[in-house]
Amino acid sequence: MKIFIDTANVEEIREAASLGVLDGVTTNPTLLSKEQGSFRDILKQICEIVDGPVSAEVVASDAEGMVAEARELSAIHSNIVIKVPMSKEGMKAVHRLKQEGIRCNMTLVFSPNQALLAAKAGAAFVSPFVGRLDDISHIGMEIVDQIVEIFSIYDIETQVIVASIRNPLHVIDAALTGADAATIPFKVIEQMVKHPLTTIGIERFLADWQKVRQ
Ligand code: E4P
Repeated sequence: MKIFIDTANVEEIREAASLGVLDGVTTNPTLLSKEQGSFRDILKQICEIVDGPVSAEVVASDAEGMVAEARELSAIHSNIVIKVPMSKEGMKAVHRLKQEGIRCNMTLVFSPNQALLAAKAGAAFVSPFVGRLDDISHIGMEIVDQIVEIFSIYDIETQVIVASIRNPLHVIDAALTGADAATIPFKVIEQMVKHPLTTIGIERFLADWQKVRQ
């Protein structure tokens, strides 16, 4: 499973990239609003750090506006993938952008039907949001399972990015579905690294090494 980081924070991205595990980045308007500086500069910096898809989201409400924004965003760097919210206008935009060779990530996907339509419209990626479904007492990972199965039955090439990940268990469950990627907040990547027995083990080895005669 590919590991994407879900942040617009350049330092977090640099640190995660240095671990050698980063395959891509997803940003959204909320994540970019937390950072200082122009969003174009931030996206450019991110693309220079990570050699993989970097999702940048359009905010227009009509297909025409989305396509215009998408063209501007893709001009920033060849790694940019356009994140388009799931809607009829979004589908029209994805369909047109595909014809122009611009890759899209259909976001805010909360059902297998939405994912199927996104794929048919031409999205290169779909992002089902598991955490937000869990928040309303619907098991988010169930829709990921269904999407992965449907895409596999019909040999659909659209990649599934499990999004809205909140904890390390979400990552394990995402990997078990066979999804192509999980986009993970930096805090969760750090949680995945750690295990209390690893910490204790390192401390014990260091303490014992002090007793070794040089
Ligand atoms: C996905 O691409 C989104 O940026 C993200 O995963 C949303 O997560 P949230 O529900 O924690 O905001």
